[in-house]
Amino acid sequence: MTSPPTPPLEAGWNEVLDRVGREVLGPDDRAGQALAAQVTALSRVYTGREGSLADAASAHAARLRFYLPRDLPKIEGPLAELSPALEGPRWRVLDVGAGYGTTSLGVARFARRHGVEAVEVTAIERDPRAIDAFTALARRAPEAGLTAALSLDVRRADARAFDAGRLGPFDLICLGLSLGELFGTDPGAELAAEPYLRALAARLAPGGALVVIEPALRTHARALQRLRDRFLEGALRVHAPCFTDAPCPLLRRERDWCHGQLPLPLPVPLAPIAEAAGLRRTRLTYSYLTLREGAPARDRWRIVGGPVRSKGKAEWDACGPAGLVKLRRLERDQKRSPSPLDAAERGAAFAIDAALSDGASLRVRGEVDCPR
Ligand SMILES: C[S@@+](CC[C@H](N)C(=O)[O-])C[C@H]1O[C@@H](n2cnc3c(N)ncnc32)[C@H](O)[C@@H]1O
Repeated sequence: MTSPPTPPLEAGWNEVLDRVGREVLGPDDRAGQALAAQVTALSRVYTGREGSLADAASAHAARLRFYLPRDLPKIEGPLAELSPALEGPRWRVLDVGAGYGTTSLGVARFARRHGVEAVEVTAIERDPRAIDAFTALARRAPEAGLTAALSLDVRRADARAFDAGRLGPFDLICLGLSLGELFGTDPGAELAAEPYLRALAARLAPGGALVVIEPALRTHARALQRLRDRFLEGALRVHAPCFTDAPCPLLRRERDWCHGQLPLPLPVPLAPIAEAAGLRRTRLTYSYLTLREGAPARDRWRIVGGPVRSKGKAEWDACGPAGLVKLRRLERDQKRSPSPLDAAERGAAFAIDAALSDGASLRVRGEVDCPR
């Protein structure tokens, strides 16, 4: 099954963000060159090149006007892969480290397109300015028809100390780009993050899912892979992105890491800012982990590297039931018997007839389900 494509962000978001920026940020609002400079500085913090997260907390305009609309669709990749999908006319969502509401707003936008009537969000966040902006957005975005109806219950608190024991149950628990801030990304961080996620997941309704999204940076993705290895057995299991219950093969070599992507060009007002800040414009990348109760399907393969095209051939790394394998397609075979794999990019999932072996030249069954 191919999931429906993620549409580019609707133009109405510009107007909503503009109004909320003026209302909530006041003298801290930025536009034009000043906004681009703030985005550049914040990008250096996020990629660990310069500055600290404390600097990031004061980059209000960059977070609201650039990172929010850029990152909002990321949650759609994991949501589109939930099988069985979330059901019901109302989705109850817990958003941990909610910030300006990027991930919840992304859920509510996805929910609107899927006929969900309302999304009820409980948000845990410690930054009062972010809470003000999220509160304003949660009112204006549904009014503008950009999301499903959205109700918001904000708990201003330290998320690590917060006891979620009496909240819920939730259909969806999200940690959007916040887990690394809560626990760090050094080896060993997973030892504290695991019981934290287990306690949160205890608040899931039957069929619910917990989704962690992290930046597609080597440090963050590998921290998430180490955490993923702690959910290979038991009731709460890795549901995505993996199709294997073996320890993550992309942890073996320091230089590897696993991430997904959505081929989504940035909308017009963001593209020049991204260009000025030296950021990617044509696709959204992220690492993610979806945990859920129940036996996950392990019948498919995921492209985790490539395509690398050279000298009459293309090669991909694929991860699946038998671990990590390299797939190869000769150009002449691609011409003679085209396969859906030939256009596959990182993150695509596919089923295959035969058992895969290293260097396999393959026949793909059905479609390659590319994130889009
Ligand atoms: C990079 S932002 C991500 C915001 C949003 N979830 C998203 O999807 O873009 C991380 C957020 O986590 C919040 N945060 C970090 N540590 C926290 C803590 N201990 N308690 C509550 N919030 C925290 C920060 O204030 C910030 O708003």
